[in-house]
Amino acid sequence: MYTLSSSVTWKKLEQLAQQTENDRISDYFSADSDRFNRMSLQLGGLFLDYSKNRLSDDIFKTLIKLAEHSPLRQRQAQMFSGDIINVTEKRPVLHTALRNRGDEPVVVNGQDVMPEIRAGLKKLQAFTDQVRSGEWKGYSDKRIRNVVNIGIGGSDLGPNMVCRALLPYQHPEMKFHFISNVDGQHIKKILKGLDPETTLFIVSTKTFSTQETLLNANTAKQWFLAQSNCPGADLGKHFVAVSTNKAAAMEFGVSEHCIFEFWAWVGGRYSLWSSIGLPIALSIGYHRFIELLEGAFEMDQHFLHAPLDQNMPVILALIGIWYINFLGAETQAVIPYDQALHQLPSFLQQLDMESNGKSVDIEGNPVDYATGPIVWGQTGSNGQHAFFQLLHQGTRFVPIDFIASLQVDEGTEAHHFALLTNMLAQANAFMNGDTKDNRQDFASCPGNRPSNVLLMDQLNPHNLGALIALYEHKVFVQGAIWNINSFDQWGVQLGKRLATEISRNIENKSSEYDASTQGLMQMVKQHFAR
Ligand code: F6P
Repeated sequence: MYTLSSSVTWKKLEQLAQQTENDRISDYFSADSDRFNRMSLQLGGLFLDYSKNRLSDDIFKTLIKLAEHSPLRQRQAQMFSGDIINVTEKRPVLHTALRNRGDEPVVVNGQDVMPEIRAGLKKLQAFTDQVRSGEWKGYSDKRIRNVVNIGIGGSDLGPNMVCRALLPYQHPEMKFHFISNVDGQHIKKILKGLDPETTLFIVSTKTFSTQETLLNANTAKQWFLAQSNCPGADLGKHFVAVSTNKAAAMEFGVSEHCIFEFWAWVGGRYSLWSSIGLPIALSIGYHRFIELLEGAFEMDQHFLHAPLDQNMPVILALIGIWYINFLGAETQAVIPYDQALHQLPSFLQQLDMESNGKSVDIEGNPVDYATGPIVWGQTGSNGQHAFFQLLHQGTRFVPIDFIASLQVDEGTEAHHFALLTNMLAQANAFMNGDTKDNRQDFASCPGNRPSNVLLMDQLNPHNLGALIALYEHKVFVQGAIWNINSFDQWGVQLGKRLATEISRNIENKSSEYDASTQGLMQMVKQHFAR
């Protein structure tokens, strides 16, 4: 049996954590003029500098050993080849097949899924081209100008983040909106500015059973019917669906040919590469969408074939494990120095925390080590004037990922220069601190706080695809080493189930709830009875 925390490598890492307690990152640089070159990696347009970490060579080598002795390589091969690795839901995990740009078949239950994936892409292309060219007309013969995606979690965060990140590539005559929250204020605010004649709704839900999305989709449909004089038969010109549940989508009123299907083996938080990416393709065009997939494919190939000690996702994952399991880090900050990436921390929150927020291993036994970190962050330089104070001088240990793009937008040279130099200054300050003359006063910053820097040569679809896949695989590697299932989310399912039950039971005074829940249910009920 694989027992991680009693393995020799784990014990050695515990020892190393004690032995290097007083090591300073800056001393590693003084001792090795080649550290930056040795501890940085380039893959296509993506550059990773991981030299400013609390990593001696010995620690790095031992972490690589940890990965070698773990089920990582075996699970990786299983994932890419379509084996059932989501054991609790008894499914393969095949987001990598969605962006497979090679000729290799991917076999699930004896069947190659690639022809189906290619057919799905063709359908996406045909629709995307029609809408973007204006050939697709609404009920009153006008072209589509506003696209509204209705979905939540993985059916929102990925496409939402990518559309915003790639705004410069957006179709100049179209706007994109995302409705996710069940709070009626969200949909109300968005619908307010829309013209039904030129609006296309995408109901995005893998299961077509998520309460928030169904409520929002029905409200959108009612609004549309009330605001337009669209004949019922033309509703399909304004409502399309992305789902694995074709029957429910048709029952909602979407025409069969306007349902973009995908498969149970695509996890929600890994689904932006499937037809859940429809808003992305509509925004940036099909060919750019393919560039996004190609960037992810490049990262997939690197992840599969690069040796562990030169493998970007593996290195990021191991550095994370070092901090979480051996240096006591509870959180991981992600700070993009790029306003276009302002949704990235929210996307990564779901990716990482829904995947690795687990406390039992793959056999159902409780783990005796920490797993997924609390992921959080926001854009720099804003964060500098909000929470960086705690990062510099607080009592907590918070590793940071800085992310930026080198490409300068015409006319914003001075801004971009300031943006990037601010980021470099922060990474430097976190490492070196400010303890001149060993002073111990209010102004002294201890430093020795680690960070990674990820630099893209440009924020384009290809590089963004690679960046997202990098984080997907980082999460996968950590899950494999911790021996947990990164692909289920039973805690979230519990919330979904109880929300339905409580709304159903609110009328009855049910003793199955605790006094607090009953009391609060009573207050909500009275409020609605007024
Ligand atoms: O948040 C839990 C979750 O199951 C996600 O994994 C999924 O992306 C989201 O709910 C929405 O589910 P659906 O796409 O089925 O509406």
